Parts: sequence; structure tokens; C-alpha cells
Amino acid sequence: MRLWKIQRILARCKDIKCVSKSFVPALVGLCLGMTLSMMYAPFSEDSCETYIAKQDPQKMIKLRDTKSVDVVDEMYEPRQLDIENIDQSAYKLDTKASSKFYRPKFAATELGIRQKLFVAILSSKDSLNTHAIAVNKTLSHYVTKVIFFIDQKAPVIPPGMIIVNFDDGYNHLMPINVLKYVIKKYGHDFDYYMFLSDKGYVRAENVFDMVSLLSVSRHVHLGAPKGVEGGKTYCVLDGGVIISQSILSQVNASMKWCSDNCHHSDQSLNFGKCLLHVTDLECQSTAANKVYSAYPVKDFNFDKDIGALKVQSAFNKSLSVFPMPDDISHYKLHRYFCEVELNSTRHQIQEMKDNILFMSQFAPGGQESVTWPIGIPEPYRPKNRFDVIRWDYFTETQIFFQDDFTNVRELTGVDKLDVQDIIKISMEKLNEKHSNKYLYSYLINGYRRFDPQRGMEYVLDLALEDTSIPREAEEEHNYNKRIIEKRVLLVRPLGEVEIVPMPYVTESARINIVLPVTVRDMDGWGIFLENYARLQADAGDSLALIIIYIYQQLPKPGEDDIYTVLKSMSKYYDDKNEGGVKTVTINFASNGTYVPEYKLLDSVSDQLDNDALIFMCTIGMLLNAELLNRVRINTIPGWQVFYPVGFWQYKPNIIYEKKPFPAEIEFSSKTGHYDVLSYEHGSFYNSDYKEARKPLAEAELMNYDIYEMFVRYGKLHVFRAVEPEFKHYYMHLECLPSSSAALFERCVERKSLSLATRSQLAKRIFQYQDKRDALQKSGDKDAQQNGDKDAQKNSENKNVPQVPPNNNVDKKAD
Ligand SMILES: *[C@@H]1O[C@H](CO)[C@@H](O)[C@H](O)[C@H]1NC(C)=O
Ligand SMILES: *[C@@H]1O[C@H](CO)[C@@H](O)[C@H](O)[C@H]1NC(C)=O
Ligand SMILES: *[C@@H]1O[C@H](CO)[C@@H](O)[C@H](O)[C@H]1NC(C)=O
Ligand SMILES: *[C@@H]1O[C@H](CO)[C@@H](O)[C@H](O)[C@H]1NC(C)=O
Ligand SMILES: *[C@@H]1O[C@H](CO)[C@@H](O)[C@H](O)[C@H]1NC(C)=O
Repeated sequence: MRLWKIQRILARCKDIKCVSKSFVPALVGLCLGMTLSMMYAPFSEDSCETYIAKQDPQKMIKLRDTKSVDVVDEMYEPRQLDIENIDQSAYKLDTKASSKFYRPKFAATELGIRQKLFVAILSSKDSLNTHAIAVNKTLSHYVTKVIFFIDQKAPVIPPGMIIVNFDDGYNHLMPINVLKYVIKKYGHDFDYYMFLSDKGYVRAENVFDMVSLLSVSRHVHLGAPKGVEGGKTYCVLDGGVIISQSILSQVNASMKWCSDNCHHSDQSLNFGKCLLHVTDLECQSTAANKVYSAYPVKDFNFDKDIGALKVQSAFNKSLSVFPMPDDISHYKLHRYFCEVELNSTRHQIQEMKDNILFMSQFAPGGQESVTWPIGIPEPYRPKNRFDVIRWDYFTETQIFFQDDFTNVRELTGVDKLDVQDIIKISMEKLNEKHSNKYLYSYLINGYRRFDPQRGMEYVLDLALEDTSIPREAEEEHNYNKRIIEKRVLLVRPLGEVEIVPMPYVTESARINIVLPVTVRDMDGWGIFLENYARLQADAGDSLALIIIYIYQQLPKPGEDDIYTVLKSMSKYYDDKNEGGVKTVTINFASNGTYVPEYKLLDSVSDQLDNDALIFMCTIGMLLNAELLNRVRINTIPGWQVFYPVGFWQYKPNIIYEKKPFPAEIEFSSKTGHYDVLSYEHGSFYNSDYKEARKPLAEAELMNYDIYEMFVRYGKLHVFRAVEPEFKHYYMHLECLPSSSAALFERCVERKSLSLATRSQLAKRIFQYQDKRDALQKSGDKDAQQNGDKDAQKNSENKNVPQVPPNNNVDKKAD
């Protein structure tokens, strides 16, 4: 049945491929993340890539041979700078020591001593709750730091903004106070300082990008030139003024002069005068070929003026627009520029796609090799039939064969939202292409699969009502004619992959293996100890074993110790190996009830240093050096605890037909499984354990295992992953009802899953029933045939596990 379905889907997939080639425009794309940047260097209109992309590559190759690619050569030919013509003052640290060139402060920037952009907003009592909030909302998340300054105490203080109040009521003197304050508190911390009145709108993202491109070795005094004071131009504060740290520290020296001499009624004049007193650098609108274009407006009314403004390229390119009459205009303008930004990003994406398509014809495989959608990694190609990623079939309400154990399941939660969402998007895109002529009717078929290289892929067969076909009188008859089918392909690409920075760890940490032993574990004891002794002979001091013997009742002196044999074995290895096995022994009485993990660990934790690395183990595990190294690497103090998921062997007498069972653990899907319900193997540092344990009361701890304790603690990464080097012998699980309900339930579920595969169990049931029937009907000649039928009937009995369809059923479906 399953095989047949896959074949059908594969057949469809072939169809899709031709469809996608011939009807590319008719198919629908869903592009959430932009992975293009990984394939292409940052785009700029006149970049080399674009230039080359627009040329014929064959011609380019020829040109390269003859070394006469005019434009390209010219662009990269080293040129000597004409020192005479460069504005010398821009390269000088000290205006007096004019003969000395200013050395770029690479070291300072590389060490990250300074942050990029500080913004001081000059507001006032009256505009703090309107203009200033608008500035905060449109600017603060793009720049490094923003502080608002006011002249008088405001009745309502907006939340989430740093506000400094000078409280002298002299609004026009504020620039000097602000300069003083900024120099004193932040004078050394930033590369660039922007001063702006709250009447100005600034495209903060673009401003930040621009100052990021400026060299920190330059003096910078950028802004919108306004007037002339003492023969030098100054900037208008409404349009924003950007100065470099070097200028700010010069101003530092003359703050007293500024306080005494800058008493005009105009803020911008006071500010400009103070700056120009110490620096020769006038207010400029360009720095190092980067233009800071400010666009002054008069009686700005967004709805009325935008039509005329948006056709001017000066307005399109402007980084600041001022003054804003009110906060609403501010928001409307911000919305407009966000749209412009979005449109230009879309345009860039489209251009990159065109480039990729164009270049692909010269790449191996040609244009055929470009897969849809462009820029998203191509679909995973299975190496053999076991690698095929399964498509899940779904309708609007149900999903089928999602995993090996369910046939059909209701669509709920995010799955349901997901399906609704892709149908909606398909309809939008289809109607965009076909001038709104379709009405969604129903979903015929849906397929989806998760491709780890690319994201979620969907194939939908949609039934649509074509509204362009006119309705006729016999409604009923006509309806079917109006219904058409469309197949659409969608991809929901994976977003940007994030790299989580990890602290550095060494591989030499000493591991304290904590091993609880119960009476049931005695069988595996020899193998474990032998393994351990061998590892320790190599590892020496970096391994220690702490054994916790769990008794029902501690033996009284003179009584027999049930662990005598085990204890003498560890003593034997202790004596045999040089350095010994070095075991610490703890006796623990359980009184026959469930012992929560934390009680065992508490008894160990006290005996160890805070920086001890603890690894919880069980007797059945196969210790090896590789596993221990992973433990060392993946456990990070104060940062991460590690919970490997091992490969657990199934119960040997079920999975093997006859004795002797192999001593080794065979690694195959028939002999074991990765037991994702096992949480007993974990490694962590003692200090982390103590911290995580602190906030929880004993009564709470009773309900959790240590893993859950760490998850609830929340301050550490809990790293849980399948560990291929970690194998575990079959272990008989004892589920004690005295443990918490959740733990007990998990244990019972795990117990049933850890016996064998479903088909192996089914086989045993058949064998058992065959045998029983044969016994019952012994003497009857037809026993064999009837037995078979009865077995089938019995399997419907609730108490017997359901038997999955056997191979015969599969073939019928084929
Ligand atoms: C100001 O901006 C900050 C940072 O973006 C934000 O957390 C805060 O809520 C904003 N305050 C107001 C009143 O908008
Ligand atoms: C300003 O000058 C004072 C002393 O005159 C000095 O301590 C301080 O570091 C200077 N600040 C800046 C940003 O240069
Ligand atoms: C300004 O930008 C808008 C939106 O991107 C565009 O439609 C318009 O043509 C541009 N105008 C100029 C003069 O560049
Ligand atoms: C952005 O593009 C859309 C669609 O192409 C257009 O309707 C809209 O006016 C554009 N926005 C701006 C600000 O140019
Ligand atoms: C077992 O019983 C003894 C004596 O009654 C008691 O001291 C000990 O704490 C009990 N242990 C557990 C795990 O309950």
C-alpha cells in the first residue's frame, strides 16, 4: 500500500518537473527568507558582478586574454592619490601640528572599544509625548543608543525612553547643555554622534549604514547647511547633525567659551557657533563621497504633498525630511519610506534572480540546472531508496500516514493553520496571475514534505470555480463546467541559519561516572567493569567511578551483603590495574520504594568539588572513549548540560530465533532502536546541578527526573542528541507505581517500545497462537488451515496488540 503510494507520488513529481519548466510564471512562490546573499556578494547597482553579468562571458574571456577589458582594468588599476587636492584638514588630528598625517585608528575599532552611533534628540516639554515618541518609534531600534533631552519637567513621561531634563526652561540654550552632557558621559564611547531635534524625520537605518561605511580616521561634520556664522556654514538641527568623535573631543576644550557666547534664540545657530569655534570644518552634506541629503519641506501635509514629492529623486534619496508638523505626518512618512525600501529590496531580489538565470547558461548543466525557486537550495536527491523523503498526503481536515504508526490524524493547531495559509497564498497568487477570475472551491489533494536543505515543500491540487464562465439558467448543470483543477507547487524556505556561540572547552576534564547499582543489574556488572578498567588504564586520572549500591535494607553488621561479589570484583580490578579502578562506594537503602534521581545525586554531590564533571550511567551501557570525549566537549560549566540518546538493544530472546545470542550489540533496525524516552544518561557540572536544584522544593523534585529539573531551571542549554557511539544492552525496566504519575506513564510506554519491533512482536503472537491452536486441535486433520484463520480473528481481540498488515496485503494493493 505504502510502496504503491510512493510510486504514485513519484510519478506525479515527474509531472511537476515539466510543469515547472514550461509554466514557471504560472507557478507560485513563497519566499520568506533571503538566502541569496550566500550565493552572491552584496549587490550594488554598478558592482562588478552586475557589470560582468551583463557582458557575454565568451567575450570577457577573450578580453581577459588580451588584457584589454577597459572598464574593469581601469577600475582596479592602482592609482596614485593627488595629495594636493585632498582636503588636508580632514586627515589631521591636531590643527596645529599640520605637518603630521593622522594615523587611522584601526586598532581601536578592531578591538571594539567604541560603538557606532549615538543619537541625542532635542525635544521639549510640549513635544515629548508626540514628536519625541514618533522619533523613538521610527529611529531607536536602528541606532546604538538614543537619549532624549527636554528643557522642563513633562507631566507624562513615556516609558522605555532615556530622558534627561535640564529644567531651566531655556530651550534655545539646550544644545550647549546637551553637548556638555554628552561629552561628559559618552564622550569616548562612540564613533559618531548625531544631534537632532524632534521635528526632523530621519531614515535611521540608512543613516546607520552610511556612518558604518565612513572611516573613523576622518573628521566629520555632516548635516543640512543652513546659514553662515563668522564666515562659516553651520547645520540645521531639525535636519540632523552628525559629528565624529574627533570633533567632539575638540569641542570639549571650548565648552566654557560656548556657554558664554552662544545666546541666540536659534538652537541651530548656538550649536553651530560652538562647533565652528574650534573646528575649521564647515557643515557639509558629503563625507568621503557619501551624501547626507536632507530634504527641507514647508507646511508639510503628507497626503497632499506626497504625490508631487515622490517623483523627485532628491526626495527619494533623502536621509532626512524636516520639519514635521505633527507626529502623524512623521508616521505616514516613515511608512512611505519603508515601502520604498521594501520595493527596492524586491527589485534587487528580482535582479539577482535574473542574474543567476543568465549566468547559469554558462555553468555546468546549463539553465536546466537552476531549480525553482531561484536562490533556494535545490531539492535533496536521495542516494538510495532508503533516503527518499516521504511526502505526507493531506486534505483540509486530515493528514495521512504521517509516521510509521498512524494512518490518519485530524489536522489541528499549527498544521491546520499551515494548510489554511498555503491555500490562501495559492489563491492570492493565482488570482494575481489570472485577473481575479477564480473562486476557491475545495482542496482535492495536498502533499507536503520537509526537505532539510530547503524547507517545507507543498504540492496542491485545487478545485477552483472559474467566474469568467457565465452562469446559465440550469445552475446545477453549469456548476460542474465552471469547476477547473489547478496544480500548484509551493516552497516555504528555511530562514537564516543562526550560529550559537559556544564557550571554549578542553577535552581533559575529569569525568566522575556515577553508577547506581540495583540487585537486578548484577548480570551486566562484569562487562561494565572490564570496559571501565580498560578505559581507565588509558585515561588514568581523567576518569573516576562512583558506585551507589542500592539496597532494599542496609545490611546489619554480621549479615550477608548481597553485593559482596560485586564489591570484591571491583576490588580485584582495583588491585590488578596500576593506579587501580579507584572507586568510591556509597550504600543506599531504598526500602523497596522508588528512589528519585536527585536523592542519589545529592549523596554524590556533597562528596565532590563544585567543578566536578558528573556523568550519570547505567550498568548496561557500553562505555567507550569516543562517548566520554563527547561528554567532555558537550558539557560546559554554567552553560550547557548534555543528554545523549543511545542505541538500545531489544530483548534478545524475542529478536533472535535461537541461542546462543550474540554477545555484541548488533546495530540495525531489527536489533534495537534509539530510545528517545530514556533520560537517565546525562552529564553536567556539580555546580550547575546545585544551582538548578536550589529553587525546587523536595516535593517538586519528587515528580521530576534530573533532565526535567534542568529544563525547568531554564538558565542552561539542555543539549539532547542522538549519539551514534553510545550503545546500550537490553535492560529490563521496572516501573514503580510509587514514582510520579508522569514518570510512571513514560516508563510503561518505554517498556512496551523497548521489547522489539512491531513485526517481531506480531510474529511471536502468531507463533504462540499457532502453537496453542495446534495443541487444542491435535488430532484434527485440518488443524493447520483453520489455525490460520482463527489467528486472524483473535487478533481483533482488544487485549492482543494489533497486527500490522503483512506483505500479502501490500501486494494486493499494488
Ligand atoms: C522607545 O523605543 C524603545 C526601543 O525601541 C522601546 O522599547 C520603547 O517602548 C519605546 N517607547 C515608546 C514610548 O514608544
Ligand atoms: C574633556 O576634557 C576633560 C578635561 O579637560 C577630559 O578629562 C575628558 O576626557 C575630555 N573628554 C573628551 C571626550 O575628550
Ligand atoms: C521614487 O521612488 C518610488 C518608489 O520606489 C518610485 O516609484 C519613483 O519612481 C521614484 N522616483 C524617482 C524620481 O526616482
Ligand atoms: C511599491 O510597489 C507597489 C507594487 O509594485 C506599489 O503599489 C507601491 O506604490 C510602491 N510603493 C512605493 C512607496 O513606491
Ligand atoms: C528507609 O528506611 C530507613 C529506616 O526506616 C530510613 O532511615 C531511610 O531514610 C529510608 N530510606 C528511604 C529512601 O526512604
